[in-house]
Amino acid sequence: MPDRRARGRGEPDRAVIELTRVSREFPGQPPVRALREVSLRVDQGDYLAIVGPPGSGKSPLLNVVVLLDRPTSGSYLLNGVETTTLPDGARTRLRGDRIGFVFQSFHLLSHRSVVENVMLAEVYGRRGRKGRRERALAALERVGLGHRAGFAPNRLSGGERQRAAIARALLGGASLLLCDEPTGNLDSRNTEAAPLARRGTSRPSSCWSRR
Ligand SMILES: Nc1ncnc2c1ncn2[C@@H]1O[C@H](COP(=O)(O)OP(=O)(O)OP(=O)(O)O)[C@@H](O)[C@H]1O
Ligand SMILES: [Mg+2]
Repeated sequence: MPDRRARGRGEPDRAVIELTRVSREFPGQPPVRALREVSLRVDQGDYLAIVGPPGSGKSPLLNVVVLLDRPTSGSYLLNGVETTTLPDGARTRLRGDRIGFVFQSFHLLSHRSVVENVMLAEVYGRRGRKGRRERALAALERVGLGHRAGFAPNRLSGGERQRAAIARALLGGASLLLCDEPTGNLDSRNTEAAPLARRGTSRPSSCWSRR
């Protein structure tokens, strides 16, 4: 990685994500410190894979970055905005506008068709309804799932569900794409078809990239 401290004076700050000493502790007996003072910076155009054994805190870290969870302590700047103190509504809008996310367990709505699930990505964003179905169908084509658009998610294989979730993440026009084990269920050909894991390891545990 380039040495970011070498950035010249007057050059714009290209940080998309800046975490400073972020901790997340889950209460209980005993409490679990899933994240301990994590500091991390991701610039525009960066592609990053996070790897670690089960239970090492990858999903808790992604949940914080995607604004679904708040750290117990520390600072998280998204495009220069301090997010830890923002009210829930502002965090939801920021997420809808800026972030696409593929969950480890997909989170597809069972009572909606595949294409409707993909369309939901735009509901909290800025784009209008016009052309939404066409954009969703194009995203499904992009991951090789156009022929399953009308299916219910529970009729899809694990790999197909994963691709539907990837299509949904691609749709929102997000500047930041976060993926929690996005390609674990895909064969190597479809791993390449899903335009996520093109660099780095072919099966990253977690990754994010700014397109
Ligand atoms: N919502 C939660 N409530 C309470 N504790 C949690 C929660 N999420 C995570 N933890 C704790 O944090 C630890 C690390 O989280 P997690 O197991 O999700 O990490 P991971 O690296 O994503 O693992 P995996 O590779 O299995 O997905 C867990 O073992 C658990 O103890
Ligand atoms: Mg996980």
